[in-house]
Amino acid sequence: MKISVILNVILLLLSAALLWLYMAQKDKSIPAPSTDDALENISSRTSIRRYTSAPVEDEKIEKMLRAGMAAPTAMNRQPWAMVVVNDPSQMEALRCDAPLAIVVCGDMERAIGGEARDFWIQDASAASQNILLAAHSLGLGAVWRGVYPIPPRIQEVKDVLGLPENIIPLNIITIGYPDESPTPKDKWNPENVHYNRW
Ligand SMILES: Cc1cc2nc3c(=O)[nH]c(=O)nc-3n(C[C@H](O)[C@H](O)[C@H](O)COP(=O)(O)O)c2cc1C
Repeated sequence: MKISVILNVILLLLSAALLWLYMAQKDKSIPAPSTDDALENISSRTSIRRYTSAPVEDEKIEKMLRAGMAAPTAMNRQPWAMVVVNDPSQMEALRCDAPLAIVVCGDMERAIGGEARDFWIQDASAASQNILLAAHSLGLGAVWRGVYPIPPRIQEVKDVLGLPENIIPLNIITIGYPDESPTPKDKWNPENVHYNRW
């Protein structure tokens, strides 16, 4: 066989292998969820307050934190800090009964100054909702337990977690594998909607 034919065959095989590798890699990338999946996740989420004792895997914790930090923030300040609690004695000190909690906090050193300061509450709330939705989508249950703006609750959480002065806890999101299955509430009410003006 001529050397050029052999070279051509090798080249063809190499190209095929490269194409195969590219397609395999493409398949592995996470597909963008369809709009329906996202809407279904939103409407089927409900607060879960009872959990099994099964621990939450580290990969899932990171996915929830990433979802939280994907939230929009005023001027893109990202003025948040998240404290992950999985030590049972810390959980008890927070008076929560769950395998895991994420305490979503505002960082006043990164918040906007002046009269726009309180945007941190909306920023940290958007992150919190993303965490709740991510938990649900990962087969976990979660509930937002309010801390801010109630002073004794804020102080208690600050003391237990040893938070610095500039860090304000917004909530405690307790998370775990669900040990209850409440029906999601249907909150749709067209009377809450106004078009163009009240
Ligand atoms: C700001 C805020 C504070 C909340 N605080 C608590 C709380 O302290 N304890 C609790 O069990 N649930 C708390 N929740 C959860 C609400 O009770 C729950 O979201 C509401 O009843 C609607 O139910 P759903 O989440 O199942 O749709 C809080 C939710 C929000 C947004």
